[in-house]
Amino acid sequence: MKSLTWNDLPAHPDRWWGLPVLAAMRRDYLAVIAAQRPLGDLVCQRILGERGVDVFDPELLRVVMVDHADALIRWQRGPEVFAELMGQSVLVTEGATWQRQRRMLMQAFTPKRVAGYAALMTEAATAGLAGVQDGEVAMDVLFSHLTMDVISRTLFSTPIGGDTAAAAQAVQVLSETALAEMFWPFTLPDWLPLPGKAAKRRAQRLMHGLLGGHVAARRASGEARADLLGMLMALRDETTGEALSPREVYDQCMVSFQAGHETSATALLWWSWLMAAHPEAQARARDEVDAVLAGRAPGADDLAALPYLGATLKEAMRLYPPVAAVMTRRLTREITLGGVRLPARTLVRVTPWLLHRDPRWWPDAPLGFKPERFLPGPDGKLRDEIPRGAYIPFGLGPRVCLGQHFAVLEMTLIAALVLQRFELAPTSTDAPKPRMAVTLRPEAGLTLRLTSRTRS
Ligand code: HEM
Repeated sequence: MKSLTWNDLPAHPDRWWGLPVLAAMRRDYLAVIAAQRPLGDLVCQRILGERGVDVFDPELLRVVMVDHADALIRWQRGPEVFAELMGQSVLVTEGATWQRQRRMLMQAFTPKRVAGYAALMTEAATAGLAGVQDGEVAMDVLFSHLTMDVISRTLFSTPIGGDTAAAAQAVQVLSETALAEMFWPFTLPDWLPLPGKAAKRRAQRLMHGLLGGHVAARRASGEARADLLGMLMALRDETTGEALSPREVYDQCMVSFQAGHETSATALLWWSWLMAAHPEAQARARDEVDAVLAGRAPGADDLAALPYLGATLKEAMRLYPPVAAVMTRRLTREITLGGVRLPARTLVRVTPWLLHRDPRWWPDAPLGFKPERFLPGPDGKLRDEIPRGAYIPFGLGPRVCLGQHFAVLEMTLIAALVLQRFELAPTSTDAPKPRMAVTLRPEAGLTLRLTSRTRS
């Protein structure tokens, strides 16, 4: 049988070298990828002479992302854009440098190590929630500030310092410009008097000033602390005994700060909306929290006793994966995928947003909020079988999220603290419209009505 090639794959007709597609991606990336899905599970698209393939089948996805991981690098635009802010961190490096950084950093993000940050996380969230008044609350602002404080305290043992609102605003500006620049073939120099460039420069200066100040102060004091920065400075490569260079320590701080708070804030944001919109699920999660914690602060050891709360968070990340599209990959050599030969340089696109909502992998209410699907039955197995590779909020393969244990712990602690203190109700019956910045945010923000439980 003749093997199939890239040219045999289904595709929409090419027009104007794909320029209209590029423009449409800038407006609404997910809509462009969603329009590919009806054509098949392996669908191609040509843009400016580049061949791209969308993979919509979980099994094929595993073949390419796990079995052929050694044939993948990231499409250069993602790393180019992210490296501008986060330098040569583990998020963007490749090959031997990435392997070394990943190997070393993993030591700081194991479940055991991460559990050691629980007290700092609870402290930050408790302080943040203490200032929240009953009434209509801008949840996007609340969670951005809370998670920023959590990552700052876990990194440096202190709150971010300076103006949290200004830092949150800077992160937002940088996310917006990163996404806009992603769909240009190259980044125009920042000194050009173009719209958005001045705001980007200001935001970058603010972030470098804040984080750089903390790192410099620690180096100057020579103090050894049990926080993430202390851990990064103490890391040694198991094989060579080498430490991370000062520049690498700084870049990893920046990446932890950036990758580590906006994603968790986004997940919590959608979770809070779903809790408000589903009062019965909210009540069940709250009852669980009350029964397990009896009013005390949660810790890392409580997670196993809060399965329903955990399931509500998982289901929120299914319906609204914070990283709705992972960074596009490029093949470094030819591979065969589902019987189709894909040549070197082909781009591979992976979109959790579509996998997580596909009725083939989620036959029971694919668009409904059903946390029970993530609850194990009496035999320890999930009630609904989820195909491997169909649920990937943290990505898959060797470049799976480095901070996933951190994120799950942080989100569960914050969610428990919120439910202990407040009842959440919607201010509008319309579900917020998702929009992909770097993470998937509600287009018009999110306001909920919070009522303090002690006063009710
Ligand atoms: C709900 C929260 C989070 C979500 C949904 C999430 C999601 C992801 C995803 C999907 C990837 C893979 C991207 C790709 O393959 O292109 C990733 C990578 C990464 N994440 Fe997370 N993340 C979260 C929280 C965190 C936290 C808290 C940290 C650190 C403190 C973190 C650090 C990283 C790093 C360093 C990478 C790059 C790993 C590598 O390339 O080797 N993330 N994350």
